[in-house]
Amino acid sequence: MERLFSVPLKGGAYTDVYSVKTENEFGECLSGYGSNVLFVADSNTARYLPDGVPSLVLPPGEREKNWSSIDRILSKALSLGLARDSVFIAVGGGVILDMTAFAASVYMRGARVVLVPTTLLSMVDATLGGKTGIDYGGGKNLVGTFYPAEDVIIAPHTLSTLSDKEYRCGLGEVVKHAFLSHDSRLYDFLEKNRDAVLSRSGSVMMDMISLSLEVKIDYITADPEEKKGIRSALNLGHTFGHALEALEGFSISHGEGVAWGVVKAFETGRKLGITPPSYAEKALSLVSSYGFDTHLSVSPESFSSFYSAIGKDKKKKGGAVRFILMKGQGEPVLMPLDESIVIEAVMGE
Ligand SMILES: NC(=O)c1ccc[n+]([C@@H]2O[C@H](COP(=O)([O-])OP(=O)(O)OC[C@H]3O[C@@H](n4cnc5c(N)ncnc54)[C@H](O)[C@@H]3O)[C@@H](O)[C@H]2O)c1
Repeated sequence: MERLFSVPLKGGAYTDVYSVKTENEFGECLSGYGSNVLFVADSNTARYLPDGVPSLVLPPGEREKNWSSIDRILSKALSLGLARDSVFIAVGGGVILDMTAFAASVYMRGARVVLVPTTLLSMVDATLGGKTGIDYGGGKNLVGTFYPAEDVIIAPHTLSTLSDKEYRCGLGEVVKHAFLSHDSRLYDFLEKNRDAVLSRSGSVMMDMISLSLEVKIDYITADPEEKKGIRSALNLGHTFGHALEALEGFSISHGEGVAWGVVKAFETGRKLGITPPSYAEKALSLVSSYGFDTHLSVSPESFSSFYSAIGKDKKKKGGAVRFILMKGQGEPVLMPLDESIVIEAVMGE
């Protein structure tokens, strides 16, 4: 087990991020938290729980990200007699992580929490930054807390059982991080190791995850509670992407939507003279080389539904949705866009 990062939190605490390389090491690491614990997984990730540990296995999926699951986690903790010094250990994708951390944050006013992400998306995106929560009243993540984990355990071998769709979902976020990074290491890595990344070769997974996490760490440490606008840049591609996902009835994955949204952000930036054309070209070429469909367009008949989905975007400020465009490598800018610009961006030539 190796400590990759120690991410500073408010009040002098840290989230420590560890990597484990083998199944044995993984088992030892998880058992190391002792018996004063509650493991939470879903039925797809329960296979990664150590034998015989106190655990709760929930059904999988975003639809389960609700009060009733929180209630189940809290009642299980209570029935086990857990106290504030007990550890809630989430083993799963972003849904299990967000819910377990939320339950831990309110259990006896805050128990300890350890996150063990098992999807690529949750490894590079959902473990750091402390956002916890559930979906509520038809909206995503509308109820929650800021409650960072004390440890995050990254075990890339768990990705071997992930479906291709879910893996590509995470890749969309990794590609996004490549542009937000203040240097080109992740971009160069993705360009050089495309085949190994796509085939989930064990030798490159940890390096990719680690480079991607560095980018997220940079942004969240500069804006820990999302109050300065810096952290909003992590939503690059999401405003366009979420609206496309909604329009397609969520038949395309979040990662596909984000990758498409990143390309739209680059194209829009180029048209407005914000993004240098050569940089926009570079972005398009990386996204396409990973097989993401950059040619999807919104039909004139569906534009009003698309635009109203954009209006629901969380980043609304003072009535206007702010899009993230790129001035260059690691240089995001947030700005509202006129409807005519959005039409031009998403309806194709
Ligand atoms: N807290 C944050 O900062 C943050 C950031 C990004 C996303 N999120 C949240 O994360 C959630 C999405 O996360 P996700 O994409 O990981 O989805 P998910 O948790 O729903 O997992 C996707 C699917 O993969 C399955 N799965 C997970 N790991 C597996 C494995 N190793 N092998 C086989 N199957 C496996 C799950 O059971 C599920 O069916 C959303 O609810 C989103 O709001 C939170």
